Amino acid sequence: MEQPAHGNRNLRTMTRAVKRISALSAVVVLLLASGCAALTGKQVAQPFWFNHKIHMKHIRHCIDCHVFAQVLPVAGIPSRSICTQCHSTPQGKSLAEKEVIQWFKKHPGEQIQWVIVDRLPGDVYFSHRMHVTLAKMKCSTCHGDVKNKTAPFTHIRIPFTMTQCLACHEKMGARLDCTTCHQ
Ligand code: HEC
Ligand code: HEC
Ligand code: HEC
Ligand code: HEC
Ligand code: HEC
Repeated sequence: MEQPAHGNRNLRTMTRAVKRISALSAVVVLLLASGCAALTGKQVAQPFWFNHKIHMKHIRHCIDCHVFAQVLPVAGIPSRSICTQCHSTPQGKSLAEKEVIQWFKKHPGEQIQWVIVDRLPGDVYFSHRMHVTLAKMKCSTCHGDVKNKTAPFTHIRIPFTMTQCLACHEKMGARLDCTTCHQ
């Protein structure tokens, strides 16, 4: 895959705001679910190149970058202040790194608009804290082998179907009633 140029941030479709609307009618729920299914697998362009494998050689834990995963429903995409802890000076000679450093210089105070690819349909509630902290799960249980991923995420994914959520909940004795995940 080629390293993408600055780009295209048009797919922040399933917004948090939508998720917070708790009293969705059944019709809206179904529309959202089918809209999301249609997007799954769709190719997106990230604004910059990002290589998890390189970074996991220098950073110990996923949560050093995805800093909310233990304490909030969302895991969070790292802000520029995390990147610039290292990239205020060049760490290597790659063009991809140069592009990021130049952008930071030209856009003081701005955040990189990474495109989120893992999004459940709008009415489904998920909590990282519940799974990572309380159930002590590894990120890889749900997200696979990210630590060896050399390219940024480029496909819209629904990380789990309801059947998969329920299968694990049943196995581990977690809640199964509809309102656990649908508000
Ligand atoms: C703990 C230090 C550290 C942090 C934090 C960090 N990086 Fe890096 N980054 C590195 C090192 C070391 C390299 C490898 C440099 C080399 O050998 O080319 C690298 C490489 C890169 C590259 C080039 C990758 C390639 O395939 O050539 C990019 C782009 C990059 N980082 C972006 C980021 C962004 C964006 C963030 C914030 C989300 C970030 N980095 C956070 C240390 C860090
Ligand atoms: C240096 C900071 C850094 C570290 C360490 C890091 N990530 Fe990331 N992660 C990012 C950035 C930046 C993105 C957005 C760019 C991309 O798609 O690769 C991202 C994207 C992701 C995504 C896709 C999110 C979405 O839905 O769009 C997942 C899943 C993820 N990381 C999991 C992990 C896991 C698991 C680990 C530990 C093995 C990890 N990350 C370690 C910076 C980091
Ligand atoms: C039980 C399964 C599960 C585990 C464990 C898990 N995730 Fe997730 N992750 C998901 C689901 C489901 C979504 C989509 C959530 C949504 O749309 O509300 C997601 C979304 C994300 C996203 C993008 C949206 C956001 O929340 O910022 C990132 C980044 C991410 N996960 C990183 C991680 C990291 C890092 C870990 C480990 C510390 C982890 N996840 C552990 C299931 C999981
Ligand atoms: C690999 C196993 C596993 C998977 C996959 C999984 N869960 Fe869970 N989930 C658990 C366990 C275990 C708990 C109980 C955590 C605790 O309270 O200790 C839990 C708790 C929760 C809770 C909090 C329930 C409460 O007690 O308030 C929600 C919400 C939730 N899960 C939603 C989801 C959704 C949505 C998915 C699919 C996207 C999912 N889970 C996938 C194991 C899993
Ligand atoms: C552990 C979490 C969880 C529980 C409990 C749960 N769901 Fe879901 N549900 C999901 C997730 C995740 C999706 C979105 C992914 C998908 O469509 O498979 C979903 C999607 C749906 C949809 C959208 C249409 C569709 O099927 O794609 C409907 C309707 C639905 N659920 C009804 C229910 C009902 C009724 C119950 C109670 C019997 C229930 N759910 C319990 C997680 C859950």
